[in-house]
Amino acid sequence: MAPEGQWVLMATGRSPTNIAVIKYWGKRDEALILPVNDSISVTLDPDHLSATTTVAVSPSFPSDRMWLNGKVSNSLSFDSPPLQSPLRLLSCLMIREEIALSGGRFQSCLREIRKRACDFEDEKQGIKIKKEDWENLHVHIASYNNFPTAAGLASSAAGFACLVNHVSEHINYYLNTAAVFTLAKLMNVKEDYGQLSSIARQGSGSACRSIYGGFVKWCMGKKDDGSDSIAVQLADEAHWNDLVIIIAVVSSKQKETSSTSGMKDSVETSPLLQYRAQTVVPSRVLKMEEAIKNRDFASFAKLTCADSNQFHAVAYTFDAGPNAVMIAPNRKTATVLLKKLLYYFPPQDKDLSSYLVGDKSILSDAGLHSMEDVEALPAPPEMKTPDQKFEGDVSYFICSRLGTGPKVVAEESEALIDSVTGLPKGV
Ligand code: DP6
Repeated sequence: MAPEGQWVLMATGRSPTNIAVIKYWGKRDEALILPVNDSISVTLDPDHLSATTTVAVSPSFPSDRMWLNGKVSNSLSFDSPPLQSPLRLLSCLMIREEIALSGGRFQSCLREIRKRACDFEDEKQGIKIKKEDWENLHVHIASYNNFPTAAGLASSAAGFACLVNHVSEHINYYLNTAAVFTLAKLMNVKEDYGQLSSIARQGSGSACRSIYGGFVKWCMGKKDDGSDSIAVQLADEAHWNDLVIIIAVVSSKQKETSSTSGMKDSVETSPLLQYRAQTVVPSRVLKMEEAIKNRDFASFAKLTCADSNQFHAVAYTFDAGPNAVMIAPNRKTATVLLKKLLYYFPPQDKDLSSYLVGDKSILSDAGLHSMEDVEALPAPPEMKTPDQKFEGDVSYFICSRLGTGPKVVAEESEALIDSVTGLPKGV
């Protein structure tokens, strides 16, 4: 039995990211993060892109603290600039300085979870926490993202900034959904996943869709208190498991505007946004649900691309950043696409294995075993100008597929926090 006040109680969870095929853009309530339209996303395989988060509580913790990728984050909150700005996030990951975890969005999530916390007892460890006691226990959160870090990228800071840009929109929900999910497990919250999604939503809107695997709809809801603005699963990842997702992380200059402020500006200045939300999206959402149900790739691609009426062998979509997300209907098409992509965008440093991350087996499926194979690729038939190549424009590609929602990680060895010190392992 742990001595009075000396125990540390922990839980670890892993949460995926999602890519919207019908986008969330614009809020009707900034504080509660209520959207102006429904949105639909696909959840990516957590083996390729996910956040693992360990949360801990102890009577000996004097304040809430958070660490990212093992390093102390000094200014982290779910709505503060660091997570919105690629360069500041970069420094957040690389510099070990610490300030309080005080962001309004983070505190909203924590408050909502604490409100729903239940009595907890672990007789073996001699830990007994009553519902009302959770209010007085501070949390330590350590989170690790499995996407390539600066070291894994082995390229310039610009390259890493691109990576961060790719995930800057997503890192909120990586961390946020992982933290909300894991805190809820730790605090014995009995709410269903829909309710958890409405808490995750208050950290970052798009985050709420990561609470489920497969195809997920975030229903905008009608109520002022946001209680009906929740995620629902349209179909699980097994429903349409031949889809292949390829993300091109590009090397161009990074955008400076976050989604949060970008969408605020759109709501305030664009009459088209109202039209989109009220007229365009509702019918698109219905059609998308039908396309997903019927595994109708032509309609899925058409709706995802939305503005294009060309032949859709592949669907593509962009978030607020410049990185392209391409969805192929099956592996065969994905290999054809990959060969074209690698023809046009060969790796600058000739290292094929770090140029494609995630599901690397797509390379051998495409018959690409070495850089010689890439260099020997024939020019795609549609190419008009000879030798039209853009070496260095793409930092790297990620190949993924549909995946599951968040999961508890039971193995003690995978916990990021030391169960005795309550601090991240290795810090
Ligand atoms: C472009 O969820 O990052 O990815 O709710 O203000 O945190 P906040 O915004 P955020 O918005 C990202 C929107 C998007 C499209 C989408 O995922 O639907």
